[in-house]
Amino acid sequence: MTSISATAVACPNIAFIKYWGDIDPSLHIPANGSISMNLANLITRTIVNYDPSLLQDQFRLNGESTTDEALERVSILLNRVRQLANISTFARVESNNNFPTSVGIASSASGFAALSLASSKAAGLELDEKELSRLARTGSGSACRSIPGGFVEWHAGDEDADSYAYSIASPSHWNLADCITIVSQEEKPISSSVGHALAETSILQAARIADAPHRLNLCRAAILACDFDQLAEVVELDSNLMHAVMFTSTPPLLYWQPATVAIMHAVQSWRKEGLPVCYTIDAGPNVHVLCLGEQVEMIVERIQQLPGVTQVLTAHPGGPAMLEERA
Ligand code: PMV
Repeated sequence: MTSISATAVACPNIAFIKYWGDIDPSLHIPANGSISMNLANLITRTIVNYDPSLLQDQFRLNGESTTDEALERVSILLNRVRQLANISTFARVESNNNFPTSVGIASSASGFAALSLASSKAAGLELDEKELSRLARTGSGSACRSIPGGFVEWHAGDEDADSYAYSIASPSHWNLADCITIVSQEEKPISSSVGHALAETSILQAARIADAPHRLNLCRAAILACDFDQLAEVVELDSNLMHAVMFTSTPPLLYWQPATVAIMHAVQSWRKEGLPVCYTIDAGPNVHVLCLGEQVEMIVERIQQLPGVTQVLTAHPGGPAMLEERA
């Protein structure tokens, strides 16, 4: 095999209905389905180059070598691709985020989505969206939702073949915005992969999972009807449920900082005033404040007045992972 490369781009996503806990941790088969929105303009660009002269895979993120653990996760995904394509050549992987990595936005979803597309293409495979989503899932669960575009649902399934994500509405369906409110830039103390394994130590996880189909139905219907009030209610409920599981795991996970709680209070009081706005929080202290696209500037201005806010990034619904033509 001669050296051959491909480049792909993908955006991260914010979950409206969260994935927390696996039934199969090695394949990231989740305990419940989830729904998310891709975040436009926040882009990971990944180049994969299979090079017969390499003695092992190489991985650079934002121009720097990574930890052995990060390289191992990349190699595990590349091994699946090599197996599918029946090749054994090692690859050089260069991944760059156009958003500051230090601000605490998880780049694993966009990273593994872009890696799946670029690595499979460069290996000569023509995977369809479902196959790509399944492949991305094996790198990081939420990455399967960064393969399709717009508003995306991850069908939990119960094995590799039926656990994948698909689009339920295009990016132009609803002009929503995510105001990503940064309160801490420190790396999270407990990674989500460790957190998923703790979920079932909480007695609340079973109840959260049992009710997930109901919340998925409410969220899907709210998106399809562009009903912000219904979306706000189910999105905050779902985020609160996930954090309740986190607080009550053994050991307990408390990701919030005082500024996190101050933003939650502010968002709820703005909604009482009649503003369409709600919050959702992932495995960290930063808060995603969702609002209507046409009100984003006014909401960002309000957020910037709150204590402890260091930066606000905004994103509208984003498209699917895509290949980039060679320059
Ligand atoms: O894909 P992971 O292992 O990084 O897990 C993502 C977990 C949450 O961000 C907290 C929820 C979600 O569904 O994105």
